[in-house]
Amino acid sequence: MVETIAVIGAGVIGGAIARCLIKSPDSYRVIATRRRIDRLGELESLGVEVTRDNVEAAKQADLVFICVKPGDITGVLKEIAHEIDGKLVISTAAIISLDFYDTAVSGARFVRTMPNVAAFVGESFTAYSCNGRVTDEDKTVTKRLLDTMGQHQEVEEKYMDAITGLSGSGPAYVAIVIEALMYAGLKVGLPRELSLHSSAQAVLGAAKLILEGELNASQIKDAVTTPGGTTIEGIYQLEDGKLRTALMNAVVAATEKCANIRYNWNNGQ
Ligand SMILES: NC(=O)c1ccc[n+]([C@@H]2O[C@H](COP(=O)([O-])OP(=O)(O)OC[C@H]3O[C@@H](n4cnc5c(N)ncnc54)[C@H](OP(=O)(O)O)[C@@H]3O)[C@@H](O)[C@H]2O)c1
Repeated sequence: MVETIAVIGAGVIGGAIARCLIKSPDSYRVIATRRRIDRLGELESLGVEVTRDNVEAAKQADLVFICVKPGDITGVLKEIAHEIDGKLVISTAAIISLDFYDTAVSGARFVRTMPNVAAFVGESFTAYSCNGRVTDEDKTVTKRLLDTMGQHQEVEEKYMDAITGLSGSGPAYVAIVIEALMYAGLKVGLPRELSLHSSAQAVLGAAKLILEGELNASQIKDAVTTPGGTTIEGIYQLEDGKLRTALMNAVVAATEKCANIRYNWNNGQ
């Protein structure tokens, strides 16, 4: 049974994960680490234990999240190898393969995940892949922990770069869309708060219609677009501005960058 969880590298994603875990009704003991421990005051006030000591945190934990940047993974694995041997370890690092983890600490059972920053509000989409030693019981534990962060799905590892480029980076793309809509509202005379709120809620509402199966994307467009009406004027401008192509290019570029970074990373090891 998992009672104590260490989060190694409590930055943006690790901090969000620690927050989700400590707020969970399952009452986990959560230990978060980073070197600049003074930045963990908010987590500490929520009940998370904070320390700079990765080894002690991993030693005390039944399960370890590793949330450092890809470039820091090798050093952290070397540091805590002995403490994670035989344990379930969940990494959030982009680009790093399960094969690499297996070679680094052959006795640990690794889950590779790709969450996103919406974990802060329990709305992440987290894809995950497991190494061969991860048991059915481990998967049950993993799902229970990922539940605290939002939605999740096990995927073949070959999809991880594409997931990184799509939903890992996705909140940034959508934030740009919301910001652009907010500025558009200003341009047509809306007060700033009203403009921001109505833009973000329009995105949330459209997403809910799709996720809850009420309307698919085409049906939403059809439902809003009347012949000779206002929406078609806006859609014409979006098509003219190649919004779709820009979003597709963004995901392709981010996905390809994963392979590029991995190539440089492998050759720097
Ligand atoms: N940000 C996202 O939206 C996102 C989404 C999906 C996946 N990811 C993945 O999640 C990982 C973390 O990303 P992030 O954006 O959260 O980065 P981040 O904010 O920089 O967090 C990483 C943290 O690791 C800490 N750290 C570095 N070396 C350490 C060490 N030796 N021991 C303990 N802590 C250490 C750093 O704090 P100190 O310098 O104070 O030690 C930093 O706060 C990355 O591998 C990334 O690929 C990120």
